[in-house]
Amino acid sequence: MLAHIKGALERKEIDVLRQAMAQAEWEDGASTAGANAGDLKRNQQLPPDSEISRALGKRLLSSLLASPAFVSAAVPLHIYPPLFDRYGVGDHFDPHVDNAIRGDAMTGARIRVDLAATLLLSDPDEYEGGELIVEDLYGSRTFKPPAGDLILYSAGSLHMVTPVTRGLRLASFIWLQSMIRADEARSFICDLDESIQDLAPRVGTEDPDLRRLVTVYHNLIRYWGEA
Ligand code: NI
Repeated sequence: MLAHIKGALERKEIDVLRQAMAQAEWEDGASTAGANAGDLKRNQQLPPDSEISRALGKRLLSSLLASPAFVSAAVPLHIYPPLFDRYGVGDHFDPHVDNAIRGDAMTGARIRVDLAATLLLSDPDEYEGGELIVEDLYGSRTFKPPAGDLILYSAGSLHMVTPVTRGLRLASFIWLQSMIRADEARSFICDLDESIQDLAPRVGTEDPDLRRLVTVYHNLIRYWGEA
């Protein structure tokens, strides 16, 4: 699964996050890289258990969960506290897949990592390099979108961030467990949900055919979903 959600975060929210990040203390990003990815990753991150990282993460999630496009594509069940990272000149993250299970040291909660999301907080003209490359069934795709855009992809697909050669690339990073485990099933549900959202203003929510589609949507979630 690979989805590019444009404008997932509004500019004023990006500014709030960036102002807070500019004053925060950063650490080496290797601590969340997983046992095999430590050598592949070179960047900095806000310490994941720090008050600031948790507060910004909470703020970010409340915006994202209000985005119908994000909820429709991810169908989130559990979301790991968002991480915040920055790539300066020479920083990169070589090709890897993410760990399947992720535990939160603060709460002990564990999630199965179905999906990963990168939310850009820098605009493309602020840095060179730093492209997100994700492999999917049809080959690799390269992303360098505007700040506020979110790239959602299967955590099990190979992905990387190319070395930054100028400037600073700020991003937030999210792992989540979806109610719908299988990518294929999730994409059917996402298509259906988007069609319902597009149709509703045209035919009205009282329309019997639209109601039937909504029923199918809920029944598919009931059939495939975990809660
Ligand atoms: Ni990764």
